Amino acid sequence: MEIPRHIAFIMDGNGRWARSRGLPRIKGHEAGAEAVRRVVAAALRHGVRYLTLYAFSVENWSRPQAEVKALMRLLGRFVSSNVDELRRKGVRVRVMGRRSDLPRATDRALAAAELETAPCSKLQLVICVSYGGRTEIAEAARRLALDAAAGRIDPTSIDESAVASRLYLPDVPDPDLVVRTSGERRLSNFLLWQCAYAEMLFVPVLWPDFDMADFDAALEDYASRSRRFGGV
Ligand code: IPE
Ligand code: IPE
Ligand code: MG
Repeated sequence: MEIPRHIAFIMDGNGRWARSRGLPRIKGHEAGAEAVRRVVAAALRHGVRYLTLYAFSVENWSRPQAEVKALMRLLGRFVSSNVDELRRKGVRVRVMGRRSDLPRATDRALAAAELETAPCSKLQLVICVSYGGRTEIAEAARRLALDAAAGRIDPTSIDESAVASRLYLPDVPDPDLVVRTSGERRLSNFLLWQCAYAEMLFVPVLWPDFDMADFDAALEDYASRSRRFGGV
C-alpha cells in the first residue's frame, strides 16, 4: 500500500466533543492531546516521515482569553511531558508559526523540545502554532522584498522556488494528504501554499475520538486515489 510521506491534520472538533458531554471546552482540548499521542504512534508504525498538526491558528487568538490561556498552557505541558518519549522513539519536533506571539513559557517549552529532539530523524512532527497560511506567505514576500532591496536577488528572477525557500520550514516536503476532522470542509488558512496538490480528506469524527482505526482508514482512502499533478 502506498503510504503518504507527509500527512497533515486539521485537528478540529474538541469544543463540540466537550459540549456533547457537558464538559468545558478545555476538557475537549485535553482529550485532543491524547488523540495526538495516538496519531504519532500510528504514523511511526506506518513509516510516515512527516506529520504536521494544526494546533492553533492566527485567527484562534480571537477566542475567549481563558480558552486561549488554557490552550497555551496545555501545549507547553503536552510538549514538555512527552519530549523524552518522543526522543526515544526518534521523533523530531519542529514548530512553525508566528513564534513571537506565544507566551514565554509556551515558547520555551517548544524551543526545548526542538533542541532535545533535533538529532531524531525517524519522524518529523511539525506543530503549527499561531500559524496562518496567508501570514506565512506574506512574511515570505517581505523577505523577498528585503532581499531585492538589498541587492541580494534580482527581482526579475523571482519564481516559485524563491517564494518556497522563504516559507517557515522550506526543507519539509508538501503534504501528500490533509485530513480534517469534525465534518467541516474548509482549510481555515492552513498550509495554503503547500497544499497545491494535496489529497484532501474530510471525516465526521471529532478530533478527540480520532483513533488508530480512523488513521488506518485514512491511509486506505489515500492509497485508493490516483494523483495526477495536472498530467494524465
Ligand atoms: C480544534 O477544536 C482545536 C483548536 C482550534 C485549537 P475546536 O476548539 O475548534 O473545536 P470546535 O470546532 O469548537 O468543536
Ligand atoms: C482550525 O480550526 C484551526 C485549528 C484546528 C487549529 P477552527 O475551529 O479554528 O476553524 P474554523 O473557525 O471552524 O474555520
Ligand atoms: Mg473548530
